[in-house]
Amino acid sequence: MIGVMYPFRTPPVIWAAPGAAAQLPDEARRLGATRALLVSDRGLLATGTPERLQRMLEGAGVRCAVYADVMAEPSAEWLDPVVEQVKAHQADLVVAVGGGSAIDVAKATAVLAANGGTAYDYFGVDRVPRPGLPVIAMPTTAGTGAEATPNAIFTNTRTQVKEGIVSPYMMPAVAIVDPELTLTAPPGVTAATGMDALTHAVESFTSVKAAPTTDLFAAEAIRRIGRSIRTAVFRGGDLAARTDMALGSLYAGIAICNAGTGAVHAMAYPLGGQFRVPHGIANASLLPHVLPWNLQGSVEKFAQVARLLGEPVDGLSALAAAERAVAAIQRLCADLGIPSRLSAFGVREEHIPAMAAAAHATRRLMDNNPRNLTVEEVEAIYRSAL
Ligand SMILES: [Fe+2]
Repeated sequence: MIGVMYPFRTPPVIWAAPGAAAQLPDEARRLGATRALLVSDRGLLATGTPERLQRMLEGAGVRCAVYADVMAEPSAEWLDPVVEQVKAHQADLVVAVGGGSAIDVAKATAVLAANGGTAYDYFGVDRVPRPGLPVIAMPTTAGTGAEATPNAIFTNTRTQVKEGIVSPYMMPAVAIVDPELTLTAPPGVTAATGMDALTHAVESFTSVKAAPTTDLFAAEAIRRIGRSIRTAVFRGGDLAARTDMALGSLYAGIAICNAGTGAVHAMAYPLGGQFRVPHGIANASLLPHVLPWNLQGSVEKFAQVARLLGEPVDGLSALAAAERAVAAIQRLCADLGIPSRLSAFGVREEHIPAMAAAAHATRRLMDNNPRNLTVEEVEAIYRSAL
């Protein structure tokens, strides 16, 4: 990074270890909460986790209502009923327990409840005027890293494009990252969310906004995810692998919060908005196709990625090592059964110009990419992935 400085932001309090969920009541009380709304997703209800956390809060004197109806890949309109629940319960705290969608919904709900309006009023960067209710974020996947980022992504149903509310007021007050909460995540979810986390780590590590502080977190995320993602997917009960993934996801979240993501995320958004491809799958499908282009813009960094992934690179040139990183990630996607062809999602040649235009226009992300890409080049990458 030369000439430009950015502040380094994280949630003020982070608990990250097996068993960390036990900290929830104390943290709620520390925030002065008396009435909490716990936001979760339907899939998690069957695990009993939301109910267990509700009992913990109630036992500590915090009245707790549960809203467990968050859908995956939520649209902006899905926030309205949750804001109503916050008001009906007179909540002074929002607790998010779930995957990235539940955490994003909770963060945006907390801001909307205090500021009024709808998500459409706040799409973009720094458009939220006042702080929201405090949020405690507890991820059950590893993950989006949403527990450590000041943004939330929703489908704009007017344009069918995914858009972000980005504001320091969206940062959770507390992140409680308990790998034990991720033990029940099924293999498909573990693979998709794990690849999202790896994409965060690689994109932030190679971002033009990368700084020594963000590299520290991104590199450690690549190392932990690289060594443990296969075990977490194929032997989900392995707590050591789940811990690596949970920490890797958190660290990657901290890294993107400060260094941003790049072309992979920008190009994934049209797949999510238009074709309803889950975020992690969209990223994972595109990653092997974007990286061969990107490595030309950041050879040294991609050579380091290879080393962090455990590739034997001693004696290789930087370029040869960088190519090893790309090959390793391509092999990982194949091993995890990630679809490598966009045609599997219904994408056809005629869709590509509009998708490329939308991705190229997402300057918030594209401007971080280690290689400048023209709209024609974005089209070429989509075409290579068809
Ligand atoms: Fe992501």
